Amino acid sequence: MDANQSRRLVILGTGGTIAGRATQAGDNVGYVAGQVSVEDLVAAVPTLAHQALTVEQVAQVDSKDMGLPVWQALVRQLWVHLNDPEVQAVVVTHGTDTLEETAFVLQQVLRPSKPVVLTCAMRPASALAPDGPQNLSDAVAVALQASGGGVVVVCAGKVHSARDVAKVHTYQLDAFDSGDAGPLGCVEEGQLRAFKPWEMVRDAVTEGSVERFLSAPTLPRVELVTSHADADGSVVRALMGQGVQVRPLRGIVVAGTGNGTVHKAMLHALEEAQTTRGVRVVLASRCARGRVVPHAGLSFDHSQGLSPVKTRLALALELLLAD
Ligand code: SIN
Repeated sequence: MDANQSRRLVILGTGGTIAGRATQAGDNVGYVAGQVSVEDLVAAVPTLAHQALTVEQVAQVDSKDMGLPVWQALVRQLWVHLNDPEVQAVVVTHGTDTLEETAFVLQQVLRPSKPVVLTCAMRPASALAPDGPQNLSDAVAVALQASGGGVVVVCAGKVHSARDVAKVHTYQLDAFDSGDAGPLGCVEEGQLRAFKPWEMVRDAVTEGSVERFLSAPTLPRVELVTSHADADGSVVRALMGQGVQVRPLRGIVVAGTGNGTVHKAMLHALEEAQTTRGVRVVLASRCARGRVVPHAGLSFDHSQGLSPVKTRLALALELLLAD
């Protein structure tokens, strides 16, 4: 019996380009995401033929439309499977556009001690040379060979941590990068080569905090604004001016210039939001690399090295669990 046959793996499908279909095989951009079932994606990978698998379609979406309902469905299924002693690891197929956000949410909410490997594709399943089958095969290799747990992303032969990964290219197959941190490892001919240890689970989550996430009707509203030349703070004032018929604003993340600096006109509006309206303001940087390096002159909390989109999620999750 193949050694892998005794280790059960779960593959959850959520849609994306990996499950996309175009009317013409040569078309790598004019396709519709989320068309092909995850069962068919698995069937297209010969290396998975002898693997003990449970395959489930959790959602079928273009990940630009990702949000709390799909994250809750994913967390619900992951919580069940990760707590099953017979399950070794879980692979999730996903669109590339918000992959880093889902990876971050799953890591924050579940902090799994088993591997949870997200994978994707830049070309639809109908392409002349789709990248999805190789990425899925690599993701399964990582899921079976990883020595640690946690949420990681596998794309174009590289393994990235949920914390550091970001989509950095609109078209090329190797579309993800881990910035200054670099990738965790790579996959070569089905073999995982780890460059550094996986993030270790220090404090496992409680059932209560997972329940809190699963029962939330919405996430606390945290908006993301960008500081730029000629900014005048009117975006912030418009957000503050919205009535209570819209979800109340709880936080604003600013993708600041350079080391988290903000145009003085926008800064005034943000200070007003925080001091007079109790809106939490957190500074991130719009720079593709580096972090907001803390110093005494920062006007607000900073992003702890997270990208603006992940800072937004971190604040929303913090506020949710504090409510
Ligand atoms: C999506 O994110 O669902 C569409 C784009 C992609 O997967 O590359």
